[in-house]
Order: sequence, then C-alpha cells, then structure tokens
Amino acid sequence: METITRWSGYQPTDLHSLEAMADELSLKALHYKDESSRFELASFKALGGAYAVQLILRDAISQLLGQEITLEEVDLVSHPESARSVTVVTATDGNHGRSVAWGARRFGCSCEIYMHEHVSHGRQAAVEALGARVHRVEGNYDDSVHVAMADANANDWLMVSDTSWPGYLDIPRNVMGGYTVMTSEAMDQWPHAEPPTHVFIQGGCGGLAGAVCADLWQRYGMHKPRVIIVEPAPAACLYESACAGEPRVVNIKIESLMAGLSCGEVSLIAWPILKLGAEDFLTITDESVGPLMGRLAREESIVAGESAVAGLAGLMEAHGDEDLRGALSLTESSRVLVFGTEGATDPAVYRQLVM
Ligand SMILES: Cc1ncc(COP(=O)(O)O)c(C=O)c1O
Repeated sequence: METITRWSGYQPTDLHSLEAMADELSLKALHYKDESSRFELASFKALGGAYAVQLILRDAISQLLGQEITLEEVDLVSHPESARSVTVVTATDGNHGRSVAWGARRFGCSCEIYMHEHVSHGRQAAVEALGARVHRVEGNYDDSVHVAMADANANDWLMVSDTSWPGYLDIPRNVMGGYTVMTSEAMDQWPHAEPPTHVFIQGGCGGLAGAVCADLWQRYGMHKPRVIIVEPAPAACLYESACAGEPRVVNIKIESLMAGLSCGEVSLIAWPILKLGAEDFLTITDESVGPLMGRLAREESIVAGESAVAGLAGLMEAHGDEDLRGALSLTESSRVLVFGTEGATDPAVYRQLVM
C-alpha cells in the first residue's frame, strides 16, 4: 500500500454515490468506485502490474549487484544500467499489459507484451506508446499467456502475469496485493457507519475479485459484505468453476465486448479465496453494456469503459428478476458497492458505444 501511495502522481480515485439509480433499484445506497482517473492508465490495473514490476526489479537488480537494494531505489531508478538489462514480459487483453509497460518505463527496464488477435488496435497503440514491444498471437487470451510464457523461458525474460498456475504464484499474488489499494481507498471513503451489504465485482481470471474479497474478509471477518461475481456469459470460467466445485477451463468461442473479462482460465491463487469467500456467481450478456456506459456518461458524468460496468449491469439484471433479487437478499436496506474498473481505455471503442 505504502509503496504505491508514494509513486508520483498517486491520488485516490473517486467513490461516487449513484443516488438516482439507488432509488430506482429500491436500495438504501449504491456507490461506484471510479477507476477512470487511476494514474494516466484509467484502470485499476495500474496498481497491480506496475507494482509487481517494481518488486521484481528490486530482486533482479539486487542479484545483479550482489547487494540488497530497496523499493525506493527502484522507484528513483538509482541503478539505470542494471534496470535496463532486465526484460519483463506479459500477456494481456489490454489493461494489465499497459500497467506492466508503464511500470517498465517508470522503473527503466525493457518490456515485451503479448496480445491475442482480437485485442483492439487502440489497446496495442496505448501499450506501444509506453515503449513496449508488442507481439500478436493467434487465438484467445489463454493462448497468448502460453506463448508469452514459452518466450519468457527461452529468452530469460521475467514473466509478470496477473493470472497464476501451478508453480507460478508469487508474482500474481503481488499483482493482487497492488489491487487492494483500491479496496482500502473505497473503505476509507465509504460514507456509512456500516460496511456495504453487497459487493458486485466483475471477473476475468478472478485476480481482481480475489483481491477485493480477501481484503473485505480480512477487514470485516464474518460481517464481510456478500460478494457477487459477475462475468460475461461466453467467458464464465469462475461461474463454471463454482458450479463444478473446482477450477474449470472455458474455451472462449465468442469474444465479449467486455475485453478485460474475456478470460477462460481461473487464476489458481484467486480460486480458493473465491470458492469460500464469494457467495454468488452471475453471468451477463453484452447487450446492457453500451446503454449502461451511455447512461453513466449522461446522468452521472462518469466515463466507464466496457469492463467497468459489468458489476453494475449484474446488479441491474438481478434487480429485474424477482427470484434473483430475493435469492441475493437485495432489499431497501441494502448498501451496494460496485467497482468501475476502467475509463475509456480504448477511446475509439468508447466513442462508438457511447456517442
Ligand atoms: C477493466 C477491467 N476490469 C476487470 C478485469 C478483471 O480482472 P481479473 O482478470 O483479475 O479478474 C480486467 C482484467 O483485465 C480489466 O481490465
């Protein structure tokens, strides 16, 4: 937490009260944590990948120099030549790669980014603008992870993934640790005496949801809010895993508009947290995404990207279905928190959907 809050340009993002929507949904309160102003990257992902790069560089440079260096020295780029000799690599559908590339530029190391064929050109350009080299991979996000890992092994590059698998756990755990800055801010900003009753949180590989869930659990123990995971129907790996009681892979055949959530493999370290800590798993379709982005823009002046609105869309769908509303115990005394995880991270896509 302290490491990230010391980065230049750090500021907590806003927690908005969506009063009109809370009235419409007959809730006591509805709050939206708005990550559209998170550093210059406009997504919560800025907190995770870049933080993991800083930790990796501390260890790599310490090894190169044969002496322990500090995180502050990494932040100040006190050993530029050593930093330059290190290459970090990741696969991404946009935001995580941008965070890793941003961290690499900030701390002075090299960066290679792998993107699958469906990632938009706008997202590629944003990563390249940060000085990283982009490799395009045929297939989906999970294919790009496998190619990135193989190239990392072949070239001695350091993999900074936001998802985890057997034998690769520490770095994604650091990425998730970075995300908890967002939950901490939200809880510091929370204006009610009692914590939220419900948190609707979107899932890709589950790293974000796992981090939020673990943080809330640690804070509130038995009184933690009910955690409801929301995923796009064609990439519902967390939902399928919850049904099976163990991790399940979804072979993505249709790419959701919610690009950041289009992930078919569950993060191994997120899964045990979510298996026990998340109460509900919902899936949504793309239909409500554009209209909801537009509504937030018009009525609340909030810039919300495609993946940002998933939690809110899940809440709205649940409200519209009496059985589901009852099953989730959504009542007039509910205090709901949603996370608007990105702004217009691809401005062209945003314009197309909202204007
Ligand atoms: C904007 C946005 N929201 C949510 C997520 C989901 O995060 P995770 O893959 O850790 O579940 C992502 C992942 O890329 C994202 O970019």
